[in-house]
Amino acid sequence: MDRWPGGRPADTEGIDLRRPNSARMYDYYLGGSTNFEADREAADRALAANPDVVPSIRANRGFLGRVVRYLVDQGIDQFLDLGSGIPTAGNVHDIAHRLDPAVRVVYVDNEPVTVAHARQLITDVKQVEIVDADLRDPETVFERAEETRLLDFSRPLGLLMVSVLNFIEDDAEVAELVRRYVAQLAPGSYLAVSHSTAQWLAPETAARIAELYRDVNPPSYWRSPEQIGRLFAGMELVPPGVVAPSHWRPEAEPQLPPERIVYRAGLARIGDPA
Ligand SMILES: C[S@@+](CC[C@H](N)C(=O)[O-])C[C@H]1O[C@@H](n2cnc3c(N)ncnc32)[C@H](O)[C@@H]1O
Repeated sequence: MDRWPGGRPADTEGIDLRRPNSARMYDYYLGGSTNFEADREAADRALAANPDVVPSIRANRGFLGRVVRYLVDQGIDQFLDLGSGIPTAGNVHDIAHRLDPAVRVVYVDNEPVTVAHARQLITDVKQVEIVDADLRDPETVFERAEETRLLDFSRPLGLLMVSVLNFIEDDAEVAELVRRYVAQLAPGSYLAVSHSTAQWLAPETAARIAELYRDVNPPSYWRSPEQIGRLFAGMELVPPGVVAPSHWRPEAEPQLPPERIVYRAGLARIGDPA
């Protein structure tokens, strides 16, 4: 950017914009304008290492959209979107409200530029809020989500964790976080996860991107498709299971083979506690 649509939000003062940031790099990959020179330079280096990053991220956004439509069709009328990102085309509330204007959405992100922009975007949108919280602290997330008075946790809800768990380094912490969030949800709720994987990348390409992302705020980590699949343990995966996001219930022929997509994604229904 270096230009702020609508002026620089007050709560972004003091942020070091010289350090590349994952949310703003993601925005750049998607053709957005909420990014700075440092973000674009880092993103361009990642793209030079693997041009499939852009179609992979587009595949993720497509997955997110199809999941939201699928869930609204199943009667889900409330969403908690963790790591919701910089608002861009096809936000969860845009997609859901096209099908049912009564759907309630709470976005959660801990990146100040993202939160400020989302706030600007949704000022006049009913049934939608963003809360500034770190998903590694579920108590605070639930507390702030409750404060919005939009979500009813005694009823089924769609929990979205799309391209966000990869920002947590520790495998056990990721599994424990998913468990803690899911434990708070009513039976009949759903969990959607999309997570980056280097499974099919040449080792030197994976290593170059991993090194680059270690200097990005927050750093990002790969996980194997098996590890991603295990996050749904004990839940009923919606067919086709954990696949490339482009291949999850596609509405058109996917343009790239699944091996070229650097994410794996799935949706599962949360049943009654055992
Ligand atoms: C790559 S973007 C994904 C955006 C959106 N979910 C999507 O798939 O299009 C990841 C978002 O997660 C946010 N994020 C990363 N770590 C987080 C954390 N610990 N708590 C809350 N948000 C986080 C980032 O700020 C960023 O906006």
